[in-house]
Amino acid sequence: MALALHPNFPDAGYAFLQAENGRDLPDVFKPNEEINAIEQGRHYGWPYCYDLSTPSPEFRIVLQSGVYRSLCTANALYKAPFSLLPPHGAPLAMLYYHGAKFPELEGKLLVGLHGYRPTGSRVLVYDVDDHGFPKPAPAPVRYHVSCAADPTHSFQTEAGDVAAAPFEELIAGWYRVNGVRPLGAPVGMTVAEDGAIWLVEDKNQTVIRIDRAAGDATPPLPCDMRSQALIDQLANFVAGDAQNGVRLTTLRKGLVEKHCVGCHSDFGLKPGQSDAQKDATVLRFMLSQDGWIYPGDPDSGKLRMRLRGLGAEKLMPPGGEKLPKTEPGYAGLRDTADLLVAKMVPGTRMRIKSGPPQRKFFGKTNKECGEIPAAKVVVVTQRNVVDKPGFSRFFRPADPYLNGECSDDDGYYIRQEFLVPVQ
Ligand code: HEC
Repeated sequence: MALALHPNFPDAGYAFLQAENGRDLPDVFKPNEEINAIEQGRHYGWPYCYDLSTPSPEFRIVLQSGVYRSLCTANALYKAPFSLLPPHGAPLAMLYYHGAKFPELEGKLLVGLHGYRPTGSRVLVYDVDDHGFPKPAPAPVRYHVSCAADPTHSFQTEAGDVAAAPFEELIAGWYRVNGVRPLGAPVGMTVAEDGAIWLVEDKNQTVIRIDRAAGDATPPLPCDMRSQALIDQLANFVAGDAQNGVRLTTLRKGLVEKHCVGCHSDFGLKPGQSDAQKDATVLRFMLSQDGWIYPGDPDSGKLRMRLRGLGAEKLMPPGGEKLPKTEPGYAGLRDTADLLVAKMVPGTRMRIKSGPPQRKFFGKTNKECGEIPAAKVVVVTQRNVVDKPGFSRFFRPADPYLNGECSDDDGYYIRQEFLVPVQ
């Protein structure tokens, strides 16, 4: 959570605000986080109530009698949130800005959202009244869900759209974009004597100084997780490979339409599409998600991790632990998904030989593009590169191995002797 006191607090009527991390329901849009206006002796709901007045089902008994009776809906002890914040935003930093550097921010409330979901990773700016309270607006009040300008989502509870205090974004679009920038996760914030803002961010272990630059504003960085051109290229590879075409249809019908729709924006599927359109839609959806699929390297993608429940994160579909036993063919679908990814790019799969320093790879002009750990698999598209003797060209590796210095068009190259056949 985060706390902020108006400079005139504790004089009567001045704001003492708390930004709250709500419970972690699996739904991306539920529940909302909260800004509470703190008053002595009140209860703000956690963990018994979420959103504005929704009782948490597992506390039904607590809410039936005693001091917490009907806490969320009809109890003078409870004080509903002053405003909702984006769901899963995870506010950890909050302050009133006072400083010489940014007159346009003077007196405003800044809130840093640490959450890693597409509703977090940003710094909000609230316009406030004379007493330091953000100014609520009637529903719908919308917020960004991706670094693209649209679509925007409105603050909602089970009752539908609700009023909330609208905000602007001081840092927006701080999503990870392959080869362009990492995801940001603001934790703490303070104002320097000269009015610049210090921000501590823990995803990349950085301390950032927000200052005013001389000259023109820099153009916004691109937002796509994977460029449209690359998605087109990959979709064409799949379309041109009969076996992968079959695999894709199998997955679309047996996995996605049975077990994934209803969430993840239905993988983009719309009523009335032909079978071929459905296949293409599902593939393009998965390719446009951050880190789901790294062609040639199924082990690195979240799709495989989630379908098999590897690692700490939740199995997909949620609650699907028994599917491999109860549904004939389900286990095979997961292998089909791995094969689709492994064979997505035409070329030869090869493994990176163990031991340093051969893990480095380069662009066409010898610019260093990153390092791939030993034993990782890449798809080699040219074993002997004519104009780069001693090197092999491979398809772009998984993002975590890119240092952001190279572009796909320039190609990725590694010394031939550092590649060994996949057994
Ligand atoms: C009931 C809704 C629901 C269904 C059904 C569902 N998912 Fe999810 N999925 C979520 C939510 C919510 C998250 C994010 C929360 C989390 O990280 O666990 C998520 C996360 C994921 C992630 C990780 C995303 C990331 O960026 O980290 C992948 C991959 C994924 N799901 C794939 C699938 C696939 C494939 C299916 C079908 C087999 C599926 N999901 C079915 C709700 C669902």
